[in-house]
Amino acid sequence: MTTPSKAANRPGGEWLLAGHPVARIGYGAMQLVERPGLPPVDADDAIALLHRVVELGITHIDTAEFYGHGTANDLIRRAFGDSDEVVIVSKVGANRVDAPVPLVAAQKPQELRASIEANLRSLGRDRIAVVNLRRADAQPGIIATGDQVVDLDDQLAELAALRDEGLIGAFGLSNVSLEQLQQALPAGIACVQNSYSLVERSGERMLDLCRANDIAWAPFFPLGSAFPGRPKVVEQPAVLAAAQQLGVTPSQVGLAWMLQHAPNTLLIAGTSSIAHLEQNAAIGDITLSDDLMAQLDAVSADGKQTSIG
Ligand SMILES: NC(=O)c1ccc[n+]([C@@H]2O[C@H](COP(=O)([O-])OP(=O)(O)OC[C@H]3O[C@@H](n4cnc5c(N)ncnc54)[C@H](OP(=O)(O)O)[C@@H]3O)[C@@H](O)[C@H]2O)c1
Repeated sequence: MTTPSKAANRPGGEWLLAGHPVARIGYGAMQLVERPGLPPVDADDAIALLHRVVELGITHIDTAEFYGHGTANDLIRRAFGDSDEVVIVSKVGANRVDAPVPLVAAQKPQELRASIEANLRSLGRDRIAVVNLRRADAQPGIIATGDQVVDLDDQLAELAALRDEGLIGAFGLSNVSLEQLQQALPAGIACVQNSYSLVERSGERMLDLCRANDIAWAPFFPLGSAFPGRPKVVEQPAVLAAAQQLGVTPSQVGLAWMLQHAPNTLLIAGTSSIAHLEQNAAIGDITLSDDLMAQLDAVSADGKQTSIG
């Protein structure tokens, strides 16, 4: 199994993602353009934040064409051009529409291909390092119905063809079950991106399977998301107590727990704030004692969280 090194300039240490050395602390770009109840971040401010991402040593950026109708990708292109300084991980499986709902499933193999081509255009790249297939079989998010219920093997065959053609370097899975991951393993899976955090732990068995197969575990909603109504890591009493004890922020405690919990975890916390970004980049310096880890491990023991892992 790959052991993350503590490379000095890689916040949180390093992981080899589809052959690219990346800092274990990455960045999710969704908050730049999709903030519930808030407008998108001003473009100049967003580009300044993206530049700060790289200054902080963060090398892994998560995005999607459907984040703001290509706007997140556009910002990334404007910030970095086609530089390989950053490892871009995008996702396919949905399309952005205006109404009546913001996202529709786009799961058919030809739709996955079209979405990757759209990502390449908006990112201004010849190749995307990693693309996640975002399945829509279960919450959270859209559920595929009718002809959008597509066989996983057909999707994997299309993604493998795109990899052979060089349009993508590797692929991963998002929002999948343990059984789906097991089914997909022979295709070569670089990473898994499911909803998971200190308050949503039902993906533990999948995390273990990823770890055993040297697959990166790069969960979405690592802080519980910006969406109202979902459990928030920063509201947990054990998190607040640990933050006070250590003199760090509750978000930092939640993210530090994830980093320490499993060596194959890559963080992609989303933020629209440079100050929060800097806090998140600093969590590699936080060490949680065995005692604190045990107290934090107990946070979601009530089993109330829902996930599909
Ligand atoms: N595959 C999928 O289906 C899927 C779904 C959703 C998201 N994603 C990806 O996963 C990434 C992470 O998920 P997410 O952004 O939805 O949720 P998240 O990272 O769990 O939480 C984002 C929220 O946390 C806040 N936050 C971040 N750092 C903070 C800090 N240091 N202190 C206080 N608040 C902080 C942000 O507010 P501020 O902006 O104020 O910092 C924002 O409200 C996304 O950006 C996206 O790239 C993938």
